[in-house]
Amino acid sequence: MDDFTLGNMMRNKERIPDPMRYKKGLVNYRRAGKSGLKLPEISLGLWHNFGSFDSFENMRDMVFTAFDSGVCHFDLANNYGPRNGAAEENFGKLLRENFRGYRDEMCISTKAGFGMWKGPYGDGGSKKYLVASLDQSLSRLGLDYVDIFYHHRPDPNTPIEETCYALHGIVAAGKALYIGISNYNREQSEAAVKIFRELKTPFVLNQFCYNLLDRRIEESGLKDYAAEAGFGIIAYSPLAQGLLSDRYLCGIPADSRMRKSFTLKEERLTPVLLKKLFALKAIAERRGQTLAELALSWALKDNVVTSVIVGASSSAQIRENLKVNPAFTDEELEEIERVCKSE
Ligand SMILES: NC(=O)c1ccc[n+]([C@@H]2O[C@H](COP(=O)([O-])OP(=O)(O)OC[C@H]3O[C@@H](n4cnc5c(N)ncnc54)[C@H](OP(=O)(O)O)[C@@H]3O)[C@@H](O)[C@H]2O)c1
Repeated sequence: MDDFTLGNMMRNKERIPDPMRYKKGLVNYRRAGKSGLKLPEISLGLWHNFGSFDSFENMRDMVFTAFDSGVCHFDLANNYGPRNGAAEENFGKLLRENFRGYRDEMCISTKAGFGMWKGPYGDGGSKKYLVASLDQSLSRLGLDYVDIFYHHRPDPNTPIEETCYALHGIVAAGKALYIGISNYNREQSEAAVKIFRELKTPFVLNQFCYNLLDRRIEESGLKDYAAEAGFGIIAYSPLAQGLLSDRYLCGIPADSRMRKSFTLKEERLTPVLLKKLFALKAIAERRGQTLAELALSWALKDNVVTSVIVGASSSAQIRENLKVNPAFTDEELEEIERVCKSE
């Protein structure tokens, strides 16, 4: 290793958070449902770009950019990588190297529910899987507890009582402070809420996909139910994995998620979608925003949405994504609906 590289590594390891991070006023905070837990309107998700093959210095820079702007909530899962577990390991390394004294300023979430390891105990919603998986996550993160632990997706083969009791027990054991569910539809959420209420579990959030192009939580009544029942919605993929930005308006860039990952398929980029994106961009420009800023602002327009979890491949994207303004006129909202429904 040459002196220049070694010097940079030392500087990176020595980097400390900006003492002005809250004074800048870049981020507002909202309560998760009726709970006391506040989250930044913009959270950072580590699903992509925090894996074994990604640049660690870019990860460090992105986490600093977020934290230095007041984004104090980081969303992980046991299987984020690739390889499974790599995002938690990388984030754990950052906590050790740069954020050791800042744990209490951070809200750190993780999840279990998708396939994580071989055999009958590495997938689903059983107590056996959830407890073991969280222990593994804590070890990768180097933490005693996470702030929010989610069941990542409903498991039709496990009684909902078992999953909810397991989540409750995890809080009782001091390994998580709050509980979330993810990808639970309205009926599944109602069933879980009933049990959490009986147990007095600190259940605060349902994490679901929500963006201008994906309205399932509106159509199913889940968004209304969250407001009624007093939990928050935390929206994932608020930019539809990058479609709701300038990223694909002039072709498919070689370094984009669509080229690099199987999670965003090229077939999605149809002429009908492109027409909508250009029309939404025109609305955004009239509001003095980019398309990404409009999309994030729109997802935050109702208070029941506690936060939107953005992914990013660079610090520049995170900086852009902070510029939200969730206040819309009725005319703007109507025009957005017309565009989204157009064929
Ligand atoms: N609970 C669940 O089942 C579940 C599922 C999915 C996600 N999540 C959570 O939600 C988080 C966010 O999901 P997501 O990554 O799909 O969110 P997203 O914000 O919709 O998409 C992120 C991608 O959009 C592009 N992008 C972001 N900001 C941009 C900007 N300003 N301009 C242009 N392009 C921009 C980047 O793609 P490029 O890489 O092309 O630059 C980035 O990787 C995940 O990290 C995870 O924590 C949860």
